[in-house]
Amino acid sequence: MNDLEQGRFQSGQANLAKPALYRLIEDEARKLAAGERHPIANAANFAALLWDMLPDINWAGFYFRKGRWLVLGPFMGKPACTRLQVGHGVCGTAVAKGESIAVADVHKFAGHVACDARSNAELVVPLLRYGSVVGVIDLDSISHGRFDAEDIRGLEALAKFWVTASDDLD
Ligand code: SME
Repeated sequence: MNDLEQGRFQSGQANLAKPALYRLIEDEARKLAAGERHPIANAANFAALLWDMLPDINWAGFYFRKGRWLVLGPFMGKPACTRLQVGHGVCGTAVAKGESIAVADVHKFAGHVACDARSNAELVVPLLRYGSVVGVIDLDSISHGRFDAEDIRGLEALAKFWVTASDDLD
């Protein structure tokens, strides 16, 4: 089943190139976050936006840092691991390095944590506030090699916007 058949696109978005699609997602995010600075509320809507507008993903969501743990935040997709360890798996490695990681085949990534067994590719971008990693945005896909440099750029821009648009988590 393709994405149009799944009904996950509004008309006109299916043929957009990735940079334009991410710009559209950020435009929508700006509208949703106008007048709202609660970090969970904004994360919830951003996860829903990513889920609704990006083709070929099976999980989209946030993890927030609590010391040496990443705790599950708002997401769309199948239920997921509630806690990940900083330094382990794709998310924990992105936090430890403070940089985005796109994995073409998660089964070849040492320590990968399989929350949804169908996932084959993953993109994790850190949420950076004053140089500290306060969490991540995580995307999963069933398609190997789904995420490229354009996805990294687009998701990093959204992550940056979430940080500036939202207050600190307690
Ligand atoms: N695969 C991630 C765990 C989170 S889920 O994909 C939602 C990891 O290895 O950190």
